[in-house]
Amino acid sequence: MERREGPINVWDYERLAEEALDEATFGYFAGGAGDEHTVRANVAAFDNWRLRPRVLVDVGEVSAATTVLGTDISMPIITSPVAYQRMAHPEGEVAVAGAAAELGTIVCLSSFTTSSPAEVAEAAGEGRRWFQLYWHPDRGVTKEMLAQAREAGFSAVVLTVDLPVLGPRERDLRTGFEVKSDYRLEVYASALGDLGVVTPKSAATLVDPTLTWRDLEWLHEQAGLPVIAKGILTAEDALLAVDHGCDAVVVSNHGGRQLDRAVASLDALPEVVDAVGDRAEILMDGGVRRGTDVAIALALGARAVLVGRAVVWGLAARGSDGVKHVLELLRDELLVALALLGCSSPDGLGRSHVAPAVGRREQ
Ligand SMILES: Cc1cc2nc3c(=O)[nH]c(=O)nc-3n(C[C@H](O)[C@H](O)[C@H](O)COP(=O)(O)O)c2cc1C
Repeated sequence: MERREGPINVWDYERLAEEALDEATFGYFAGGAGDEHTVRANVAAFDNWRLRPRVLVDVGEVSAATTVLGTDISMPIITSPVAYQRMAHPEGEVAVAGAAAELGTIVCLSSFTTSSPAEVAEAAGEGRRWFQLYWHPDRGVTKEMLAQAREAGFSAVVLTVDLPVLGPRERDLRTGFEVKSDYRLEVYASALGDLGVVTPKSAATLVDPTLTWRDLEWLHEQAGLPVIAKGILTAEDALLAVDHGCDAVVVSNHGGRQLDRAVASLDALPEVVDAVGDRAEILMDGGVRRGTDVAIALALGARAVLVGRAVVWGLAARGSDGVKHVLELLRDELLVALALLGCSSPDGLGRSHVAPAVGRREQ
């Protein structure tokens, strides 16, 4: 076989990213809350499952294409909202949006974007884009943020519900991580004027800790777009999200960056899927590093997954080309997994395709 010199999987990209970034910046992207139990648990949770392949099924043509909220996408893999992407690479969010659009999937832009929604829209062109919202304590500001997203053609609002306060990031304390003044939070700069250097303390003032489910009514009126609740880890909250009009739910623990020891996203997925049924679409993120991880999440009932760090590693290593390659790697790994599972498309996956790993510890 021809020897391949470059990166061939997401782990390779993680190593390249670590080489490309200084210690504090890499630590900001890689790290999580407290002892980082949940960061590790998100990845480890996939190891609690094994795939059950079916054979002698016609897999002459296999496609990764699917739909999310009625939108056709080329693969059930969407980019997670990640703050400060220009810190990973000068092309930042623009590179991620361009790569996602080129490959036919959705980009989700963080409220903490260092590129403007208009720049991202230009890079995405016809590509679908979602806007992740951190609800500001001043409703006027939240309204202005939503207006920016709507004007730039974003087609859904992803309301992050797991950050009423910022999780304790010990890596950042140890490395003395600071956001440099070159990175402007574009959405807030338009809504509030330049904030200067944003510290973890001042970032916390940008999110309303008093928000409750009742406030979603106002959001629906203002947004005029589908609303997706991101950061749900229990059946109870998933049902509340659906009862309050959310069109989809992202089962997520913020990549282990908020409540350390919170349940791994994949472990929370089945109870959310069982509770919600077909009342809303269920997405998940956290720990996805392989196409087989995507297959397990889909078999457990996710419509699609979002990927955070894997995309950042591609971005840090090689800009737009790196993001594109990471998404292609995940898609191609998924395609092989689908064929070997006897499925010609993601819709063919179900619970019969997974089994608990033998000796799996009880959750
Ligand atoms: C460096 C970093 C910044 C993040 N910023 C945001 C953000 O601004 N808004 C948000 O909703 N989630 C944010 N997240 C969480 C991601 O959207 C996602 O839930 C998480 O990264 C998924 O886990 P994974 O990195 O293992 O794929 C961030 C995650 C990381 C690693």
